[in-house]
Amino acid sequence: MTETTALHNHFKEIITSRRSVRMYDPTVKISREEMTEILEEATLAPSSVNLQPWRFLVVDSPEGKSTLEELAPGNKNQVITSSAVIAVFGDMNAFDNADEIMSSDVERGYYPQEIKDQILANYTDLFGRMPAQAFREMILIDSGLVSMQLMLSARARGYDTNPIGGYDKSRIAEAFGMEKERYVPVMLISVGKSAKEPRRTTRLPIGRITEWK
Ligand SMILES: Cc1cc2nc3c(=O)[nH]c(=O)nc-3n(C[C@H](O)[C@H](O)[C@H](O)COP(=O)(O)O)c2cc1C
Repeated sequence: MTETTALHNHFKEIITSRRSVRMYDPTVKISREEMTEILEEATLAPSSVNLQPWRFLVVDSPEGKSTLEELAPGNKNQVITSSAVIAVFGDMNAFDNADEIMSSDVERGYYPQEIKDQILANYTDLFGRMPAQAFREMILIDSGLVSMQLMLSARARGYDTNPIGGYDKSRIAEAFGMEKERYVPVMLISVGKSAKEPRRTTRLPIGRITEWK
């Protein structure tokens, strides 16, 4: 087997074995160290001009879980039985980090200071003019990508997840002491070890959803 084939087989195993799991083994606890590694892998996802606008709230304490339970009554099982639920948000102030991110690139020698200055000036102009709604859409797309990568990173480590949109998005930020106008809710992701075989789901054939020109 070539290295490419082995890599692809491994990837295929990860993506085909991911299913939305709604009932977890409550005795399985993922350490904060390992959860941090999962988040680090997730944040290797691409984002618009590498702004990395995603923010994570890892709810793994009984108090946090009970707050969340009340916000997601239709998805209680996942909240109660999972090791943690990660609330993913998009940060409306994400551009404030552009300088720090690009300075770190320059420090590592990925590109020279002059290029950074030039790009940063362009981005400052671009984002200064961008309507809030367009920025919001951009950070939602980026945060969707990081969410998917988080679920795959968890699966590669033998854990299961469920993306959850069924929760009170109008109250989540404030319920956890976060600024509502700044942090845009994206989704919850429960993480843990499956306690029962999850439901299987089908996909539309590619011919139904694709056009070739
Ligand atoms: C953004 C988003 C929101 C979702 N919200 C919920 C939810 O509130 N509750 C739930 O049980 N599943 C939720 N799901 C899971 C979907 O039902 C599931 O992904 C879909 O049925 C396909 O099944 P699979 O994930 O096992 O492949 C959500 C999925 C996504 C992507």
